[in-house]
Amino acid sequence: MTGTGGAGLSVDVRVLVLSGSARTGSLNTQLARLAAEVMVDLGATTEVLTISEFETPGYSQDVEDSTGFPPGAQRFKEALLAVDAFLLVSPEYNFSMPGVVKNIIDWVSRFRPQPFQQKHALLMSASGSMAGGNRGLWALRIPLEHLGVRVFPDMFSLAQAHRAFSENGELIDDQLENLLRSTVAGFLDLVEASKHYPCLKRDWVEYLGEPFDDRSGAVNRVDAASVGTGVKRVMSSPGSGR
Ligand SMILES: Cc1cc2nc3c(=O)[nH]c(=O)nc-3n(C[C@H](O)[C@H](O)[C@H](O)COP(=O)(O)O)c2cc1C
Repeated sequence: MTGTGGAGLSVDVRVLVLSGSARTGSLNTQLARLAAEVMVDLGATTEVLTISEFETPGYSQDVEDSTGFPPGAQRFKEALLAVDAFLLVSPEYNFSMPGVVKNIIDWVSRFRPQPFQQKHALLMSASGSMAGGNRGLWALRIPLEHLGVRVFPDMFSLAQAHRAFSENGELIDDQLENLLRSTVAGFLDLVEASKHYPCLKRDWVEYLGEPFDDRSGAVNRVDAASVGTGVKRVMSSPGSGR
């Protein structure tokens, strides 16, 4: 599903809406579609996709070194680079994220430049449980924030999702529908503001203390004195000529 908004936002805000479930009849995909409709209402441009569009083999550095990136990872990278922000609506599996979601994050994190950097993200979940899958979202924040994603502080988790939707796909509970709307609106306002004021801190540091990786071009070592100042100084390795 693709939608183009026209009102509300003063600049075009493009959002990739991704459901972390490939299941037919997925509650998370249902929530993703509803959230995308709200985004379009508010003036954003969205595309709704599910994780099945980005199928990849389990990450292996041997595979990466021998055959390169699988098509699913390439597609995700391109989808990410084409937008300002993404909404990830993910099921909770065993108090964490599904393996397929972590797998695509791992694959895509290997591209250079690393495409998650500076993207804004909003996280949502749906589950039949009373917690609505919210614990999985806390697990998701860790790799995403590590990769430089600006993860929106508010999240939306739909509890008892199997009985939350009306026949036309809206939320039966008006309070929840309003909460969904205000969460999405707050997120889009922030993304829009960041397009107006592109002066937010942009530095991204991968693994402090690790040597410079010539192959990937990752900046791994940073002068400790510059951390947090917005000024990054890459340290020279003895004999490396850097
Ligand atoms: C392997 C597995 C682990 C699960 N673990 C949790 C869990 O920790 N918490 C939870 O609320 N639901 C859990 N569930 C239930 C899912 O949240 C539920 O199946 C949900 O509908 C899946 O999302 P979907 O409908 O979008 O496919 C688990 C389901 C599976 C298959």
